[in-house]
Amino acid sequence: MSMERGCVALLTGTIAIVLLSNTDCTAGKQDGLGIKLCVTTRRGLKDFSYQNLTDVPSDISNETQYLDISHNFICRLNGTQFVGLSQLCFLKVTHCGLREISSDVFDHMPVLKVLDISFNDLSFKPDLSLKQLKILDLSNNLYNSYRLPSSYQNLTKLETLSLGSTAAAMVSYDDFEPLTNVSLHHLILGAGTQWRKYDSGALAKIRMLQKISLHASFCKNFTMLENLLLDLNKTQVKSLRFITVFPNDCHVSGDPFRHLRTMTLIENITLENTWINSSFLEVLLKDVWLSPLHDLSFVNITYNEDTPDGFQFHTINHTINLFSITFNGVNHYQYKYPTINMSFEAISKLTYLKFSGTGMNILPCKVISALPSLETLDLSDNLLSESGFWWPLCSHSSAFPKLKQLSLSKNRFISLSFISQKMKDMKTLRCLDLSFNSIVLDGGCSWPQQLTELSLESNNLGNDVFKYLSSNFERINLSKTGITAVTQDDLSQFKKLKHLILSSNSIQVLPEDLNVPNLESLYFDQNAITSISKEVLAGLPRLNTLRAGSNPFSCSCESYWFVSGFNKSLLVDWPLDYTCNTPPSLAGRSLSEYKTSKLSCEAWLQVAVALPTVIVVSAAISLLFYKYDGIWYTKMLWVWIRVKRRGKQRCNELNSVTFCYHAFISYSHQDSDWVDSQLVPSLEGAGFSLCVHERDFVPGEWIIDNIINCVESSYKTLFVLSKHFVQSEWCNYELFFAQHRSISVQSDSMVFILLEPIPMDSLPKKFLKLRSLLRQQTYLEWPSDERKQKFFWANLKAMLKMADKSVVLKEVAQAISDTLPLVTDQV
Ligand SMILES: *[C@@H]1O[C@H](CO)[C@@H](O)[C@H](O)[C@H]1NC(C)=O
Ligand SMILES: *[C@@H]1O[C@H](CO)[C@@H](O)[C@H](O)[C@H]1NC(C)=O
Ligand SMILES: *[C@@H]1O[C@H](CO)[C@@H](O)[C@H](O)[C@H]1NC(C)=O
Ligand SMILES: *[C@@H]1O[C@H](CO)[C@@H](O)[C@H](O)[C@H]1NC(C)=O
Ligand SMILES: *[C@@H]1O[C@H](CO)[C@@H](O)[C@H](O)[C@H]1NC(C)=O
Ligand SMILES: *[C@@H]1O[C@H](CO)[C@@H](O)[C@H](O)[C@H]1NC(C)=O
Ligand SMILES: *[C@@H]1O[C@H](CO)[C@@H](O)[C@H](O)[C@H]1NC(C)=O
Ligand SMILES: *[C@@H]1O[C@H](CO)[C@@H](O)[C@H](O)[C@H]1NC(C)=O
Ligand SMILES: *[C@@H]1O[C@H](CO)[C@@H](O)[C@H](O)[C@H]1NC(C)=O
Ligand SMILES: *[C@@H]1O[C@H](CO)[C@@H](O)[C@H](O)[C@H]1NC(C)=O
Ligand SMILES: *[C@@H]1O[C@H](CO)[C@@H](O)[C@H](O)[C@H]1NC(C)=O
Ligand SMILES: *[C@@H]1O[C@H](CO)[C@@H](O)[C@H](O)[C@H]1NC(C)=O
Repeated sequence: MSMERGCVALLTGTIAIVLLSNTDCTAGKQDGLGIKLCVTTRRGLKDFSYQNLTDVPSDISNETQYLDISHNFICRLNGTQFVGLSQLCFLKVTHCGLREISSDVFDHMPVLKVLDISFNDLSFKPDLSLKQLKILDLSNNLYNSYRLPSSYQNLTKLETLSLGSTAAAMVSYDDFEPLTNVSLHHLILGAGTQWRKYDSGALAKIRMLQKISLHASFCKNFTMLENLLLDLNKTQVKSLRFITVFPNDCHVSGDPFRHLRTMTLIENITLENTWINSSFLEVLLKDVWLSPLHDLSFVNITYNEDTPDGFQFHTINHTINLFSITFNGVNHYQYKYPTINMSFEAISKLTYLKFSGTGMNILPCKVISALPSLETLDLSDNLLSESGFWWPLCSHSSAFPKLKQLSLSKNRFISLSFISQKMKDMKTLRCLDLSFNSIVLDGGCSWPQQLTELSLESNNLGNDVFKYLSSNFERINLSKTGITAVTQDDLSQFKKLKHLILSSNSIQVLPEDLNVPNLESLYFDQNAITSISKEVLAGLPRLNTLRAGSNPFSCSCESYWFVSGFNKSLLVDWPLDYTCNTPPSLAGRSLSEYKTSKLSCEAWLQVAVALPTVIVVSAAISLLFYKYDGIWYTKMLWVWIRVKRRGKQRCNELNSVTFCYHAFISYSHQDSDWVDSQLVPSLEGAGFSLCVHERDFVPGEWIIDNIINCVESSYKTLFVLSKHFVQSEWCNYELFFAQHRSISVQSDSMVFILLEPIPMDSLPKKFLKLRSLLRQQTYLEWPSDERKQKFFWANLKAMLKMADKSVVLKEVAQAISDTLPLVTDQV
């Protein structure tokens, strides 16, 4: 092999000890998975953790699907506590000091899929016959062996099993016998302690095992580890994970991983929370390079250079299978950069490389950047800045020949315009992650055309960020970037955009005229959006994924379309993350349980339903109105109102004048029957004095003079109009009006009673005066209906008595109230 192509990365500089955030094996992940597996409604989710409970709460709803009573003081479980919880699918009772579990507890949970009773004081493994159980966590208890109860052979759906006790340091041949025929996928074994004995063949029993996480160390006797690997070679295990396999006080001798070279199924190996000496690393890597492994990971390791020349790894003389190396969290025991003298050949096939949490602040010249096959480079969580990544003393002419994805997340990058310039050198880069940096918008950006994905998550950028992005982008992540508003203009340039992430900002409304034709997924969860309207999504014809939960939704008609009209299969976080925020009475309720009727929310529907109703009701009212002479009553009421109005104006004048008669009555002879039998008795009975021409006219005087006398000494003149009157008598009045213009002007003093309908048109043309009087004047029609006659009299009396308002008012009111019940009764 040509050594010129070998490469020395000899770097010295500052080293930071990087503490990894919790990467604990199963906790957390399992809860998320449990929710996914089990929870279909928010009501099904009950969390009683950290409540200082000493017993299982007795009032748990029978709808409960997910029950977390961890971190309490519950030391025994018995069946009575779980009676009725037939839908329970997830049960978590960790950190409770649990010591006893009665045998009938799980009889009440036929559909249990996840059971987590880890971190307790159990000295045994409970018998289980849960047909649906998928995940069982019994780790970190106090049982002293790994022997499983024979009932576990019936856990046919079991996928993940976690076992471990600090008191169990020996594995016996028959311990896993019940799992022989169980298609267990993942076994997590051990409690981080040193094992004293491992019987060959024990793990080989779990024939269908795919993945093992071993949380144990073998420092006293590495033969155990070798035997264990030989056993795993008899199962289906593809993925090996060793946690704390070498504690810091462990002295590794020999080559415990030598069997890796011939374990044909193994694909992945991870060493986690462990101590690695450079001398051992050389031995291990030789095994790995000679094995069929694809993937090598070191997570949270302490690296100690115990070889004088640093890490040396040279000769490679066979085909290389490894294409992925991960370093996630490296503590440098020596507090200096490691010295690595490595054959370039050995890593020339790498497509994936991750150096995360290593304290790297300068990218070594022409090592990583020259890797010929590298497609993904993850340098997240380091101390890199612009000058460290593009180290001025290096020439970058051969930079990253095949790199497609670059993560610079969680570093110290600042200048977006500088980075966008530099991206031009990475001819194949498609995806750049700049999340969790200190990026500022410091000037125009020009992004290369091939770059289509950019993440700027968790940088404080603000609303202007859209102006600094490229219209070639297909995926943009702008979550937690301090955006408060998005406009249609901001997004209109992104014609190729397929994925847009705007989570965790402060956006209150989305523009209604949004037009992003290729958008397939849109996230705007954790913003300040109160409703999602049809119009917003109308401009996104290709949308197939939407995440919009954890917004302060308004449970009102605004949300009606979203709740009842929108296709929920697009939502990845429905229904759990959708709750009402307003109105206050519904705050905290699940949006999926908010029910409103279509009728109360859709305007067109309201009109559609209301219109016929209004028509029918109006028609009914009109009919009744017509039938019960509503028009007549209305007319009479109108007359009365006008009388009242005029009365008010005239009161004062009237009070000063005295009259002999309240009214002069003028009528035709043909109508004398009605006048004598109805009008006169009725009015005189009510205390009015009347001048009736046949009775009170002075004999011998000219009729006109008589009329004039009577009119002048009467407060009002009452004309009883009929066809006869108009034809025979009216001429006299024409004459009278001709003589006494002054009186005629005071038309208010005239009251007309229409004894029978007289169509205006039937009046002779010459009776202009009458026509105009009737037109302006209020007149009273004589009704034939007895009920209405009461009303007529009341109105007539009101007209005659205009000065005395209160009396009139009372009488009319009385008449109306007497009449109305009659009307309504008949309705
Ligand atoms: C539980 O008890 C501790 C100590 O007595 C107390 O600090 C804590 O507030 C309690 N928690 C609840 C939920 O009552
Ligand atoms: C829960 O209890 C209620 C009344 O207590 C009952 O109507 C309902 O059927 C029960 N649901 C289940 C799933 O058992
Ligand atoms: C179940 O446990 C509770 C306390 O946790 C106890 O009061 C009750 O008597 C127990 N029932 C049985 C049948 O053991
Ligand atoms: C397994 O289940 C079968 C039938 O469901 C039952 O007969 C048998 O006793 C169970 N085995 C154990 C060891 O519990
Ligand atoms: C597993 O299955 C085989 C054959 O199907 C049977 O002989 C054996 O007894 C089973 N073992 C257990 C523990 O169920
Ligand atoms: C190491 O373990 C193997 C198998 O468990 C045993 O045969 C051997 O004697 C042990 N060696 C020592 C030094 O204890
Ligand atoms: C091995 O690692 C690769 C990449 O990390 C991963 O995609 C794959 O699922 C892993 N295989 C197994 C069996 O865990
Ligand atoms: C690493 O090397 C040191 C000496 O530098 C030694 O004391 C320690 O036991 C070794 N640890 C391992 C895990 O090999
Ligand atoms: C592992 O198993 C394969 C066949 O499945 C065999 O060829 C190989 O030699 C075994 N390796 C070891 C170390 O036993
Ligand atoms: C990292 O590993 C050390 C032991 O090597 C352990 O003490 C520490 O808890 C681990 N850190 C994390 C975050 O797992
Ligand atoms: C590769 O190894 C084989 C034997 O394993 C040896 O014959 C050959 O010379 C080696 N080639 C190189 C270049 O080291
Ligand atoms: C790196 O390894 C090569 C080949 O073994 C050797 O010639 C060279 O001196 C080494 N360099 C350092 C700095 O150890």
